[in-house]
Amino acid sequence: MTDSQYTDIKGKIRTWRIDGGGVTLALAAEDERLPHVVHFGRALPGDEDLAALALATARPVVHAGLDRPYIPSLFPEAGQGFAGHPALLSHRADGTGFETQFHLENVEAERGKLAFRASDNVAGLHLEICVELDEKTGNLAAKAAIENSSEIPRDIDWLSCPALPIPRDHGRVITWAGRWCAEFQRELSPWPHGQKVLENRTGRTSHEAFPGIMTLSPEADLDHGEAIAIHLGWSGNWRLIAEETADGDRQIQTGILYLPGECVLAPGERLETPDVFAAWSDEGENGIARKFQSFAREKILRHPNPEKSRPVHFNSWEAVYFHHDLEELKALAERAASLGAERFVLDDGWFLNRNDDTAGLGDWTVDPGKYPDGLTPLIDHVRNLGMGFGLWVEPEMVNADSELYRAHPDWVLEIEGHTRHEGRQQLVLDIARPEVSDHLFSRLNDLLCEYPIEYLKWDMNRVLTAPARNGKAVAAEQARALYELLGRLRTAHPGVEIESCASGGGRIDFGILKHTERFWLSDNNDTHDRWPMHREASLFFPPELFGFHVGPSPSHTSGRKLDMAFRAWSAAVGGHMGLELDVRKLTADEAEALENAIRFHKEWRRVLHGGTTLNLASADDEITGRITIAEDGKRFVASFVQDATISRRITAPVRLAGLDPDARYQVEFPKGSTVIDRARRSSPSSLACGESLTLSGAALMATGIRLPLAWPDSIHVMTGRRIP
Ligand code: GLA
Repeated sequence: MTDSQYTDIKGKIRTWRIDGGGVTLALAAEDERLPHVVHFGRALPGDEDLAALALATARPVVHAGLDRPYIPSLFPEAGQGFAGHPALLSHRADGTGFETQFHLENVEAERGKLAFRASDNVAGLHLEICVELDEKTGNLAAKAAIENSSEIPRDIDWLSCPALPIPRDHGRVITWAGRWCAEFQRELSPWPHGQKVLENRTGRTSHEAFPGIMTLSPEADLDHGEAIAIHLGWSGNWRLIAEETADGDRQIQTGILYLPGECVLAPGERLETPDVFAAWSDEGENGIARKFQSFAREKILRHPNPEKSRPVHFNSWEAVYFHHDLEELKALAERAASLGAERFVLDDGWFLNRNDDTAGLGDWTVDPGKYPDGLTPLIDHVRNLGMGFGLWVEPEMVNADSELYRAHPDWVLEIEGHTRHEGRQQLVLDIARPEVSDHLFSRLNDLLCEYPIEYLKWDMNRVLTAPARNGKAVAAEQARALYELLGRLRTAHPGVEIESCASGGGRIDFGILKHTERFWLSDNNDTHDRWPMHREASLFFPPELFGFHVGPSPSHTSGRKLDMAFRAWSAAVGGHMGLELDVRKLTADEAEALENAIRFHKEWRRVLHGGTTLNLASADDEITGRITIAEDGKRFVASFVQDATISRRITAPVRLAGLDPDARYQVEFPKGSTVIDRARRSSPSSLACGESLTLSGAALMATGIRLPLAWPDSIHVMTGRRIP
């Protein structure tokens, strides 16, 4: 290429950049083509010549390829010669307009944000792509929208959020599978040839797959190396495609999964994708966790009471299930309060005809048989004990055996003429219909007006089958209607906090997090099973969003018997602490262990709920650790879970992470927080005997500390205070 050819080509390249949090997103576009990512990762110098960089990474013309090589844009188009998965799969009713060739028309740049507008007059479509980079973390939020500018309706099969490129050396991929009672199960796989596709058709975010992915460079591990994580903020059906083309280009597309015929864009109509979020880290998985936790707290979560500490919950479910007896509930409240609980959540069973899970859903009126004077006597009692009051609801659902269903059998989603499926004996209401959503709003509004309810546990206990109105799929409408209903309630009752529960962790994502502030991560209340789920989920979410409850022993979901110290201290450090067991039945020792853990939780929750939580590497497979370091770096809490008998006679010292190597920290095991192997007893570590030690951050991170010998299913909690 001659100098003048080079200048000529370079002159046709337009570039943009956004910087923040040590990250640069650089985009380039040739002529009127859509922009492609030139760089997403480590910050580039402010004066970097981006057009030169685009040219430096330009691709050759190859045999058996097109004469003008295509660089996959943020919105890859078949009409531009892209042979991989296009961002839009769509056509007009007569079959035309199946390919697009968007021409970039206008770019708007604001601080930290870029909006690209493009049109294809042949296809009759406008396109908008918005990307935003968070100043603090460098995390990306992006979305796309199309508008039908033609006179003919258009079927949409797939509209991807902006497609994000992944470097070719990111050879490993982490995704999360699961099921009820076993959410967030990590799966590591090599980057696929062709496509790896995750699909969710359950009508909620799903237990079965988390809408997120992490890719790892060859050197990436827990604390080092380049990693990229992507998450779709959407609570309905979704699809995620990770693809490598024959050119070796790698892209990740995410978006709403539309059922056949579900999405038809009328003339003039606009369709937006949800937001896709991406984080880049050169500090491995923990770097991703750092960024996503901070981003979720500051940019997604809209906590109505951000200054208030998250109160310790008592939840009635595993204590009494459907058996609601006012005097018993009062006694439970008294015992819970005396142990340190600060909020009493009345779970399922309080409303009309709700004596088991076969009837009552939809009738959101207090059962006069169980509560002759309404909920006031219980709420007054709870509040006099110094606790707040929360209530369980499942508004999207109805039992066929309910007043609501008898009055409005046509309000449910189903396909007339087909055999209907029930799940937990319940049907799904078509909440996108204004009369249905108005009815639900009014019932919930009445409850919130009548009673001082500070918290709703919003449940959703079945998958959507036949999500149809008049035979046509409306699954995405259903998810949007849920956001709207939640939004309406939040506007009417801005102080009320809401938990997202869907048989445990069936609805956990950034979309629902804009309307709620707590997740019930799993119905599996067995601490042993629960820890791995909390560890994985904290890669995308701050741990305080997840309820971690002290459940009964034996566990109701696994039958496993677990020591109270393990259950209580795990809940104290693992997330948003709660008690979900019959607290009247505790032995004196159990009560003491629980009280100690709650006291500790309260003393340290500012750190635990506001700090950065990192997973710790461990030389012993049976031990997993994590550390939460306060934002000001002055305090930390580390915890180590031993879930099996150790394979060596003695464990290796555990090393901490994220500390200031030059600082000195006073470290100790708070009273009762470590259960030493009762068979052997001996522990040479003075730490385990309640003494504190002062060590440098460097020593704690490089040499580490040897934990006392312990039985399987125990936890050691360690605190650190930076010496000024
Ligand atoms: C779901 C929830 C539980 C409990 C029950 C009540 O299963 O996940 O926590 O609230 O419903 O029916």
